[in-house]
This record gives sequence, structure tokens and C-alpha cells, in this order.
Amino acid sequence: MVGGMKSSIVSFRDYLPKKDAFTTELIFGLSQADKSIPCKYFYDERGSELFDQICNLPEYYLTRTEEFLLQEKAAEIAELLGPEVLIIEYGCGSIQKVRVIIDSLRNPVGYIAVDISPEHLRIAAEKLAQDYPSMEVHAICADFSNSFKLPRGLTRQRCVGFFLGSTIGNFGYKHAAKLLSQIAAHVGPGGGLVIGVDLKKDESVLFDAYNDASGITAEFNLNLLSHINSQFGATFDLNDFEHEARYNCVEGRIEMYLVSRRAHSVRVGENLFYFAENEKIHTENSYKYDITEFQALAAEAGFLIRGMWSDSNDLYSIQYFQRPSF
Ligand code: AVJ
Repeated sequence: MVGGMKSSIVSFRDYLPKKDAFTTELIFGLSQADKSIPCKYFYDERGSELFDQICNLPEYYLTRTEEFLLQEKAAEIAELLGPEVLIIEYGCGSIQKVRVIIDSLRNPVGYIAVDISPEHLRIAAEKLAQDYPSMEVHAICADFSNSFKLPRGLTRQRCVGFFLGSTIGNFGYKHAAKLLSQIAAHVGPGGGLVIGVDLKKDESVLFDAYNDASGITAEFNLNLLSHINSQFGATFDLNDFEHEARYNCVEGRIEMYLVSRRAHSVRVGENLFYFAENEKIHTENSYKYDITEFQALAAEAGFLIRGMWSDSNDLYSIQYFQRPSF
């Protein structure tokens, strides 16, 4: 760097929907016979903090196993990706995990950070730009389940999407295929996708990962209601709800719920919602895959398998897909 000048991000774009759209979505979910709240509401400041704690829980093998695989296989993954790669990371969080790959890549040209939380995103992207002054860093604040545009014109050999943390597990089959198709469109012909996918396994291992002994996951689930209270003027009392997480083996997913402990009503803005005793709010799905099952899903979006890495207990996988170059 010249004269101690610090690199900074090249662009910051905001695609967040207006608050009205969020309110409509929330009211819609609570108005259904089977009540639900979208899981993206977990991640206010406190929720992000609690999620970080989840990642360090002994029962929550996902994060630790993914980090181990990324570290262990960084050179091999970088070799497959090739030189002069442009990275787009969906749900980049604090932009830490991907660094081990960037460090192994030959002349990576750029990094596009996509995340839903604006302040967190700006800070993380600025930090990456300073640490990697030779890369062009862009930030896009967006809910990646909606569509958005990428900055154009960066010269690269290959564009590669990174979608880590098994976040794809939050989406059902159809929605996941749609999301992968959007990533396929972003990376273009010859483009790639490095994705973290949690695998099907013994039910008790899955159960424990979402029912930790220290109760952090329960607190994370309940914090959703605090977030709704402060952002939408709702009157949820956290003492009136209980955390539940169970594995649905027919659907192949963990389901999280908040269960009403008693019959009562809650106000959300101008709307009043009635809860019967034991009535549930569905707050999250977390789909688990067999390797072949996931590859079939990716194929629906035009992605072909190029590399697959899993730990010795087959708890978790990192998979690399590529679009044909024509
Ligand atoms: C961020 C979606 C991967 O499903 O395991 C952790 C979120 N929920 N504990 C997951 C979560 C409860 C997590 N993902």
C-alpha cells in the first residue's frame, strides 16, 4: 500500500425491502391456521450474538466440522477453482470462514459480500478490503431469498458463489432449487458454487444439536419474539412460550417451534393474535441431505458436481459444483 492509504470497499448497495413488506410478511405468517415466523428474524444483534454462541456449543457439530473441512481442504478447493476468481458470498456474516480459501487462491480478483444485516456487513467488508488490498470488495445488503443485481464489469477467469454454514437447509426443496438457480445465474456459464451441506445422520445427534444442554438454542429461538416486540411493537411475553426442536424423518428436517404455555392473546401493531394452550409458532426448518439427494437438487439449477469433502463421521459436507461453460 502506498503512503499508508487504506483500501476500502468499492460499493455498498442496499436491496432491503421496506419495513411495510416485512410487516406484511410477519402478519401473514401469524394469520395462518399453522402460525409461523420467517427464520431470518432470528438475526437481530442479540440473535447474531446467540448464534455465534451456538456455533461454539459441543452439541452443534456443524460450524466446527465445516471450518475443519475448509482448512483441511483449502489447497485442493483452491486448485479446482483456479486463478483470478471472483467470489460472491451469500450470507457472509463476519467474513471469516472464507479467508482460508482466499489465502489459498491464486490472484483472486474480487469479493462480493451479500448479507441481510447492514451495519455488520459494512464493518466486515471494510475489514476484508483492508486485509486484502489487491482484491476489489463490494457489499450488497440484501435478503438473498429475494433477487438482486450484482455489480458488473469485473474481469475474472471464473465467478464462484460461496454458500456456507448449511444455510441452504433453511429452504424447502422448491425454494432451494430456485435459490440455487439464482446463484447459477449470478456466476454465469463456467461459474462455480462452494456450498456447505449438513448430512442425514443418527436422529439423536441431530436432536442434541438443536436441544443443547446449556439452553442457548432455546434462548436463540425465544429471542425471535424480543426482536419482533422491539421492531414491530408487539407484546409477546417470552415466559408464555417454550422452545421445541424435533427431527421430522419424513421431511428429513429439524423443525423448531415456539409453543404457547397457556391460552392468551398477543398484539402485533394493530392486530391481535390468539394462541391456544400448546399452540405452536413454526420458526425454522433445517433440512438434512444425503449426498446424492443434494446433488440432484443442485442439478435442477444446472450445477454439476466437481468435488465433495466430508469428515470421517459423515456429519457434514462441503461440495463444489460447476455450471457447464457453454
Ligand atoms: C444457520 C440455518 C445453519 O439450521 O443449523 C442453529 C440455524 N438454528 N440452531 C441451522 C440454527 C438453531 C442454523 N443455520
